[in-house]
Amino acid sequence: MKQFISVKDVEDVKLLVRKALHYKANPLKDSTLGLGKRIGCIFMNPSMRTRLSTQIAAKNLGIEPILLNAGSEGWALEFEDGAIMNGTSVEHVKDAARVFGKYFDILAVRAFPRFQNKEEDANELIIKQFIKHSGLPIVSLESSTLHPLQSLADIITITEHKKTERPKIVLTWAPHIKSIPHCVANSFAQWVNAWGEAEFCITHPEGYELSKEFTGDARIIHDQKEALKNADFVYVKNWSSYKNYGAVECTDTSWMLTQNHMKVTNNAKVMHCLPVRRNIELSDEILDSENSLVSLQAENRIWSAQAVLSEILKG
Ligand code: CP
Repeated sequence: MKQFISVKDVEDVKLLVRKALHYKANPLKDSTLGLGKRIGCIFMNPSMRTRLSTQIAAKNLGIEPILLNAGSEGWALEFEDGAIMNGTSVEHVKDAARVFGKYFDILAVRAFPRFQNKEEDANELIIKQFIKHSGLPIVSLESSTLHPLQSLADIITITEHKKTERPKIVLTWAPHIKSIPHCVANSFAQWVNAWGEAEFCITHPEGYELSKEFTGDARIIHDQKEALKNADFVYVKNWSSYKNYGAVECTDTSWMLTQNHMKVTNNAKVMHCLPVRRNIELSDEILDSENSLVSLQAENRIWSAQAVLSEILKG
């Protein structure tokens, strides 16, 4: 594997899931694979799970992780080519990425959408600049459109808990008070489609359509109760409007999943990537129920990262 920024970088999703589960059973199986190698983890935005699980995964493979909170502790970076830097940015990504290229063997980057320019975010300007100028294999720790390490962990979790060959998976929009990126929802849809082992549908209020680039042939149902019928897995996530880019257009609290919503499901397992705003996005009664898989998803972030880093080292 040369880079990991989307499911398109993965030759065989099921094989990668099996590899991750193998690491889960044998965490230190390849503990010398990355000896003498360093991974730079550059965070332009906050993180808890991604930051910790990536470090654990790297250490399990013998790789030394070095973290930089570039968004809060580094110089303010400029990403536009040809920019006249007379504003707030202090260092161009060309210069920073070239330095990272000298310090590290692998570069992992978290760079959320800036919500200033839809096209710029859709084109993944920031992560592409790191790819172009560092000369290193890049691992996305969540970019402006996708969160592939999370989605791999989600598919691992579904693989572990599915009871039928082809479970019904529903991705449901949930309310939120802030403008939230589309990355997790886009990425989950892209990975479920690539995995190909589910009946998949997406439910959201009108106006919250995600890009077809990621949802593909997934069924879109605006009636949440209809969508939830016979679901085996319900993935809960807020995202802001894509059409009216970044806008919060719906605050309808009836979209928040409660035990009442669950009655029409097939005793569905409930998933969320975390962090979650309790009793806004998802109710206490669901999050604290036996059907919640959220902690297991977070645990599987380790094995997701370990499988990917191992493939990068071998690539
Ligand atoms: N799910 C996830 O990426 O969590 P963090 O933002 O805490 O890393």
